[in-house]
Amino acid sequence: MYDWKIIYENWVPEEQPLREALCTLGNGYIATRGAFEETTADEKVHYPGTYLAGGYNRLMSEVADRKIENEDLVNCPNWLPLTFRHKDAEEWFDLEKAELISFRQELDMKQGLLERRMHFRDSAGRETSLHSRRLLSMANPHVAALEWELTPINWSGRIEIKSALDGRVINSGVARYRALASKHHEPLQQGHQNDHIVFLEVQTIQSKLLMAQAARTRVYIQPDGQSVNYSTQQEQGYIAQLFDVACEQRQPVRVEKVVQIHTSRDKAITEPLQEACKNIERQGSFLHLLEQHKRAWQRLWNRCDLMIACNNQAQDILRLHIFHLLQTVSSNTIGMDVGVPARGLHGEAYRGHIFWDELFIFPFLNLRLPELTRELLLYRYRRMPEAIFAASQAGYRGAMFPWQSGSNGREESQVIHLNPKSGRWLADHTYLQRHISAAIAYNVWQYYQATEDMEFMTFVGAEMIFNIAQFWSTIAVLNKESGRYEIHKVVGPDEYHTDYPDSEESGLKNNAYTNIMAVWVIQRALQLFQMIDDSRLGELFQKRNISDADIERWRDISLRMYVPFIGQSNIIAQFDGYEQLKEFPWEVYKKKYGEAMRLDRILESEGDNVNRYKASKQADVLMLFYLFSSEELLHIFELLQYDFKAESIPENVAYYSQRTSHGSTLSKIVHSWVLARSDRKRAWNNFQTALMSDVEDIQGGTTAEGIHLGAMAGTVDLVQRSFTGLEIRDNVLWLNPVLPEEISCLEFQLRYRGHWISLKVTHEKVLISVDKGWFKEVLIGVKGKVYTFTTGDRKEFEIS
Ligand code: BGC
Repeated sequence: MYDWKIIYENWVPEEQPLREALCTLGNGYIATRGAFEETTADEKVHYPGTYLAGGYNRLMSEVADRKIENEDLVNCPNWLPLTFRHKDAEEWFDLEKAELISFRQELDMKQGLLERRMHFRDSAGRETSLHSRRLLSMANPHVAALEWELTPINWSGRIEIKSALDGRVINSGVARYRALASKHHEPLQQGHQNDHIVFLEVQTIQSKLLMAQAARTRVYIQPDGQSVNYSTQQEQGYIAQLFDVACEQRQPVRVEKVVQIHTSRDKAITEPLQEACKNIERQGSFLHLLEQHKRAWQRLWNRCDLMIACNNQAQDILRLHIFHLLQTVSSNTIGMDVGVPARGLHGEAYRGHIFWDELFIFPFLNLRLPELTRELLLYRYRRMPEAIFAASQAGYRGAMFPWQSGSNGREESQVIHLNPKSGRWLADHTYLQRHISAAIAYNVWQYYQATEDMEFMTFVGAEMIFNIAQFWSTIAVLNKESGRYEIHKVVGPDEYHTDYPDSEESGLKNNAYTNIMAVWVIQRALQLFQMIDDSRLGELFQKRNISDADIERWRDISLRMYVPFIGQSNIIAQFDGYEQLKEFPWEVYKKKYGEAMRLDRILESEGDNVNRYKASKQADVLMLFYLFSSEELLHIFELLQYDFKAESIPENVAYYSQRTSHGSTLSKIVHSWVLARSDRKRAWNNFQTALMSDVEDIQGGTTAEGIHLGAMAGTVDLVQRSFTGLEIRDNVLWLNPVLPEEISCLEFQLRYRGHWISLKVTHEKVLISVDKGWFKEVLIGVKGKVYTFTTGDRKEFEIS
């Protein structure tokens, strides 16, 4: 990586799946993997996937003697195909068959441009160079464009160029899903509109989503003015244009392909195909589109960039993370009614589903593009009726959000999953991660803290928090003996433990993280009574049937929730019975499998069960120290009348760090965060590993199936909030910077309650400047002291 770019200087077929994911281009509406234009999907090297935000379809499959239904993010028709062949040759250009003289691929994150330069020789000794450029317009999300410049180096002669739209694609990007049904759409029509424009329309099989693409291909040859013969070729779901071109040695042939994409999910359209065919006529040249696209990226970077001095590697990777986040969700996402998929729009892993990863993603967006978080929260709000139904089906009240969410908010977790290590299909109980609902409430609250958007809180946020509080209140059961409330049949963030060894039942009792999150949500619900006007409160109580008795129970639970501890120690037990589990032989397994391990799969393939061990996939108890400042957490314990002290936090961190396999990329983010103040060296090491999650594909093969957006956004947020000690509490924006030694200066601006604030932090000083246009004061606390800032203020503080 170098100066806003990822550069690949050689062609390594085994690396291509990872490169395709990392070189994905997107604009928050649609994204396309960085596959080469001339390739089609194979099972090893190339996978040209294109995914529409919110473009889901369900299919039934039969596996392991069961019928199961899965909802997938659909691989849409491939708009990329562009290739050529010599008139005398049968075969189309194939990199594998050519002798490669040079190769260079660059992803330019500043401009959102993917470029490739190749120089190759074919079996007849003809040398050709190819320069390709590609964009998915950030300025107009319905437009994608590519340009090829093909130069005959030592030959002249006729070639045929083929530009196509290919709707025959299926979802086959993830090997372990290949036994499942994968043909998600069927062709409706294809054809050509005029000499330059072809179109294709498909429809998804179950969700009946229409997608239309119209492609305009123009061929420019030197010297100017020569005519190009063209023809079309089509079959069901596929349309190509063929151009017959006479090439002159050293005279480049330039091809421009501009594609217009519309779907039946679009707003302000009549019908996708008509819209695509009409709008494609209006598009300018590749260069014109590139100019607009660059300007749109410039606007995004102005808001979202973050500058780190003295650490180029971290700087470049952080930009890559911001880049992929903005390609998945951007201002183009507003109005689309979509969530943020854990693996981006970059591949098919987890089927484009939405998990609790929002918890790691929203803090960055809250302080940069809060209008986007608002939109992503509305995705949840609109699916609340489904969550209310799910709660009632399970015997509870309120809203129980699904662990994995897709189109309509139904639970999309798979019922059985394949362990690729053993080849066995196994029951999957991870859907019992009820803590997802608490994460949603937490996200609503954080959004409000960053924006003070009272209208949202009053009309949307409070209703969500009340419903989630009601869910916790009804899932909690009073243990009459202990006088404390308990929560049963759940799974914590550590997905390894889904049931007790030798038990027939799924789920665990009293996952500490879940219990404390439940209390926190209920406490926020109670706090809202003081924040919201009485008439709106009355409306909400009436709408959601919240009675005085309910509120009484909320108050009781918020003071008497049970939290498990290990024996008489100060170590919070991950769940009831954790202490009875066996210690895991870490050294033996680390030697064999390295640092990040999927112990669930490894042990199952060995006939063992990870449920038997004190071994976590990822941070679980430690999530508490990630989400809450020690003040806030100690306050919760105090209300619950547990004698938990700040001194016990490092003990807990040490205990669980030794028992975590980091089988999820989210884990290192949390570990870095919780160590940031006590052990800066280890915090930095964890941060470094988190930074490498995708660029180095540390989980071994998973990035190719889609980037890990939680880890990507989480690393940026670590810099933004953990390194600066940024916290919003009691209407004050608190800063308490402690930069890692490896960074000498950090600079960025953030959006806080309608204002732009610029921060420059070094080891010695923090400089805070506030933008013009402030109409009210803002309180900023530095190292424990609160200062008032008004328009144009610029203040410097010594912090060393
Ligand atoms: C992690 C979850 C995460 C999901 C999607 C899983 O491997 O355990 O915490 O939500 O991936 O990123």
